[in-house]
Amino acid sequence: MAGPLRSDPTNPPPNKSRAPRIVAVGGGKGGVGKTFLSSNLSVALARAGYRVVAIDTDIEGPNLHTWLGVGSPRSSLADFVAGRTDSLLKLVSQTPIENLGLVAATHGNLAAAQPSNERRIELLRQLRALPCDFVFVDCGAGAHPANIDYFLVGDEGLLVLHPEPTSIENTYTFIRAAFYRRMQLAMQKHDVKERIREAMDQRNERGIRTPLHLLREIEQMDPEEGQRFVRSMRAFRPRIIVNEVGSTEDVKLGFSVRTVCKKFFGIEVDYLGYLNRDPAVLDAVRHKATLLDTHPDSDAAVYLRRIARKLAEAVPLPAKT
Ligand SMILES: Nc1ncnc2c1ncn2[C@@H]1O[C@H](COP(=O)(O)OP(=O)(O)OP(=O)(O)O)[C@@H](O)[C@H]1O
Ligand SMILES: [Mg+2]
Repeated sequence: MAGPLRSDPTNPPPNKSRAPRIVAVGGGKGGVGKTFLSSNLSVALARAGYRVVAIDTDIEGPNLHTWLGVGSPRSSLADFVAGRTDSLLKLVSQTPIENLGLVAATHGNLAAAQPSNERRIELLRQLRALPCDFVFVDCGAGAHPANIDYFLVGDEGLLVLHPEPTSIENTYTFIRAAFYRRMQLAMQKHDVKERIREAMDQRNERGIRTPLHLLREIEQMDPEEGQRFVRSMRAFRPRIIVNEVGSTEDVKLGFSVRTVCKKFFGIEVDYLGYLNRDPAVLDAVRHKATLLDTHPDSDAAVYLRRIARKLAEAVPLPAKT
């Protein structure tokens, strides 16, 4: 392990003024590079001088620690979800990388991977109180409710996809599921929440097929909730990353997904960037090391730093202590 962190996320300074930016990394499909991106974006921002905590929420298949070159840690997010500990901060362990803390997700209770509603709210509260500038939330694959709930703790959500039809299809499924769940959580009236729950079933008997259609229904039920829905809809803005591109056609895919989301769902999606398919990525994980250390000049590392810079645009660096 390295010496004490310059700004140690496990040892908070007394006067912390601003909440960290929480970046959730999810995706509709397994193996698209969510953990690769969560780990290496965390490293890139920690190296740039930000205090970062990376959290593994993939309780059923955790491996963020391996991507960060850390052995299986003793403490785990599973302890928080199961109520064995009440302090998220106590679960943050140092990594060998300066400024970078980790909450691993080892030894989970697979019967209870999804936090209860109270636990989810408490998790969000404690995430916001972590003494750092960025929190990266590495999510499990697919639109399972547990994954969606973890994805939605993010101030922003990065959606990783591969340039292949199955991954694109699953991305739309994921966006749809995340959107409806986000709206359900934002609404206050029971009957409105219930209507959203019905709309989640793609073949619902009311014939609600799109978010805009759902909005019209809710406006009729309750204009105040309708306004809340519009505000929440505007705030829902996932950012996509196309990973493992091999051609210019693949690069363009991000723009098509953006257009389709706008046209068919009425949802704005940003295209944050893409990364080439690069053997350096596999080589790094085989050596249980980060790409930015083992292959800092590789294509993937160059594109990754570009995405990290975009994420950091509006976040000031902490004052040096
Ligand atoms: N840009 C890339 N170029 C080449 N290989 C890549 C790239 N990105 C990821 N990979 C490879 O893809 C595999 C899956 O990556 P990763 O574990 O990050 O996916 P994931 O989405 O987190 O998967 P899971 O859904 O199982 O959690 C890894 O073996 C990794 O080496
Ligand atoms: Mg993963």
